[in-house]
Amino acid sequence: MTRPEFPGISGKSLARGVYRVQGMHYIPRMNFHILTFGCQMNVGDSQWLSRALRSRGWQETTDEQADVIIINTCSVRDKPEQKVYSLLGRLASIVRETGAFVAVGGCVAQQIGAGFWNRFPFVRLVFGTDGVAGVPQALERLASTPRLRLSLLDFSEEYVERGQDFPDASVSPSAFVTIMQGCNNFCAYCIVPYVRGRQKSRTSASIISECESLIARGAREITLLGQNVNSYGQDAGGDGLSFTQLLRRVAVLPGLARLRFVTSHPKDIAPEVVAAFGELEQLCPCLHLPMQSGSDAVLARMGRKYDRARYLDIVRRLRQARPGMVLTTDIIVGFPGETEQDFRATMDVLEEVRFERSFSFKYSDRPGVAAERMAFKVPEEVKAERLASFQARQAELTAEDLRAQEGRRVSVLLEELSKRQDEGGLSWRGREPGGRVVDIPVIDGGPDLTGALATVRISLARKHSLLGEMEGTP
Ligand code: SAH
Ligand code: SF4
Ligand code: F3S
Repeated sequence: MTRPEFPGISGKSLARGVYRVQGMHYIPRMNFHILTFGCQMNVGDSQWLSRALRSRGWQETTDEQADVIIINTCSVRDKPEQKVYSLLGRLASIVRETGAFVAVGGCVAQQIGAGFWNRFPFVRLVFGTDGVAGVPQALERLASTPRLRLSLLDFSEEYVERGQDFPDASVSPSAFVTIMQGCNNFCAYCIVPYVRGRQKSRTSASIISECESLIARGAREITLLGQNVNSYGQDAGGDGLSFTQLLRRVAVLPGLARLRFVTSHPKDIAPEVVAAFGELEQLCPCLHLPMQSGSDAVLARMGRKYDRARYLDIVRRLRQARPGMVLTTDIIVGFPGETEQDFRATMDVLEEVRFERSFSFKYSDRPGVAAERMAFKVPEEVKAERLASFQARQAELTAEDLRAQEGRRVSVLLEELSKRQDEGGLSWRGREPGGRVVDIPVIDGGPDLTGALATVRISLARKHSLLGEMEGTP
């Protein structure tokens, strides 16, 4: 139904809104736009929010058509945090034009909280990760109550379950399922435990029921998410299942083709998880295993609780369990006190492991973390130099790895058909089991193959991805 004449509701933000009736109440249905920064946990939260709002009759649109713009933020380094402020600065003129309002969620929202309201009056909702479940109702209240502002910033003791009953909202063939929130590790450089709270595992029953519902609606691949998935169940939450037991349960769900998980702390990888890579055919042969540094002295100061030898031993066992295992990592250069020799040690491990890909960052001071108070901060230009040499060598290793794929026949989960940058044709995009991105040019759209597992011959390695030719779909 279209917007009724409804006494008591006015305001520009409702101009495009339409309404559904629930009991005696008119509930607004609006246009929304979500912008997501940060890790997969934020991506997972945004995907849930999008499904929840669409199932309420809201429509996902561009920022200029939106009645509410939702920003899911990251505060892991200074740069992403600053991005949020400059984005809000830019949005000021759009919302002045359109009358929309803004909701800020995620880790910067948790950190700054209601402080946003003073600087950016058009921000009418701030929500932390434990508040995501309440966002759809909060947005509906805000839409029908001009001038109201709300915050959902409390941490809860337990994992806050979110509604999953969205029969009409489509899902991507590759879906995320959160299995835990928060982190207890307090690595010296990291703000995550402060902005995501303590570790809280979800019950296996709700994880499995969400996986089943996603598979029923078209997901073929599931990535289990958490800041430290290997310590799943080792807190007051969960229901007694270990991470490996959970993996085994999810892997055999009918209709699931592929299983992945992220992120793993090396100190918590159990021998059973390594063994699972050799036994579970659905478990993809790739693991993101953040190393942070190759120097034992730096690892000790970071509070990572493993050393270089232990890290390399896990790598050796993983590759033994699953030949062809793809390993990716996170690296911080220029942690306080990092010497040239420490940095060499990181370069040595890169040479030894030959990561297929990595994410590397300059150490960035975060408010309140232990490293902020450490002496011997590394000068900016030294950090920049170290980062550039790490990234240059990684780029060579990635290029070698991609070239080695040429001529191989791989299975690709087709995720989306998109316009090609080059001659403007169309191309299917997906990933092979190791997580390498594969583009498959097609003459015309043809049948909708979203979610199909295609057999693809890799024809060419590009800088960050592969080009392939479709040989068959099941
Ligand atoms: N839970 C994950 C990491 C989450 S944060 C884990 O334990 O591996 C993602 C990455 O950001 C980290 O692995 C680290 O490499 C980087 N990072 C975190 N804090 C940082 C800081 N203060 N400066 C630079 N990089 C940082
Ligand atoms: Fe941060 Fe360490 Fe927790 Fe990862 S394990 S989120 S790096 S504190
Ligand atoms: Fe960023 Fe928060 Fe993830 S700080 S990396 S979005 S947990």
